[in-house]
Amino acid sequence: MKIAIVTGASRGLGRSFAEQLLDRGYFVYAVSRSGEGPKALDSRSVQADLSQAGAASMLAQNIYPAILERGPDALLLINNAGTIMPTCRIERAELLALEKSFLLNLSAPTILTAAFLKTFQDVDMPKMILNISSGAAIKNYEGWGHYCAGKSGLDRLTQVVAAEQASTAYPTSIYSVYPGVLDTKMQEQIRETTKEDLPAVDRFLDMYTHDELEKPETVAAKILSFFIQYPSSGVYDIREL
Ligand SMILES: NC(=O)c1ccc[n+]([C@@H]2O[C@H](COP(=O)([O-])OP(=O)(O)OC[C@H]3O[C@@H](n4cnc5c(N)ncnc54)[C@H](OP(=O)(O)O)[C@@H]3O)[C@@H](O)[C@H]2O)c1
Repeated sequence: MKIAIVTGASRGLGRSFAEQLLDRGYFVYAVSRSGEGPKALDSRSVQADLSQAGAASMLAQNIYPAILERGPDALLLINNAGTIMPTCRIERAELLALEKSFLLNLSAPTILTAAFLKTFQDVDMPKMILNISSGAAIKNYEGWGHYCAGKSGLDRLTQVVAAEQASTAYPTSIYSVYPGVLDTKMQEQIRETTKEDLPAVDRFLDMYTHDELEKPETVAAKILSFFIQYPSSGVYDIREL
């Protein structure tokens, strides 16, 4: 059985991943706060708020041993859940909101990755971790200091783990991927932001007006088709594939 764990699977890009993985024959653990994953026999919705300290460790302890027991023959973890909130200059941000951003955007993927590698290290099967990053990892956006830092950290994590896995008996492939600008709730939140809080907001408003946002289902399909071929581990921009 092929098994996938997708965080942020209730809507947007994560929901598209979950639905398309079901179509590809995976059993899917669909993680989100609402627990509103796809309704399918081969899917289990898991409720977790990954912006809470301890939640990612608890999630890993709850589902990984059960997955190991099922004897999967392929495994995929997609660290997709993310937030751009709070959007404002860093000194104006609520401190707890900054902390939650790092817990969701960087801490949770790190913990879920570490526990995944440990639990499945002795199992010889195709194993993959896909970290959904952003162009914000390599571009400064005023108003998104924490988001840029979190995504940058995610890319670095990917590169270090890729190097570590190269010397293991049954390595896991690991990727960071920039999905482009997507027509999801995250973009709705961005369009509601003032120019004072996000000086680049006009760029996103223009893209919306000119119908230039990518459909999440199109991008999910492109990402899955490309990475299912297990290219070399590393950081990729989907627009350049
Ligand atoms: N949209 C873009 O233009 C864009 C561009 C570059 C990169 N990305 C990246 O792509 C990924 C997906 O973004 P999206 O646009 O699909 O976002 P979205 O529409 O806002 O969806 C976010 C998903 O994450 C879940 N989530 C949010 N907070 C959570 C929490 N604390 N704990 C657990 N789950 C949580 C949400 O479900 P619940 O509300 O039910 O928890 C939802 O399923 C993110 O990592 C984002 O940074 C997006």
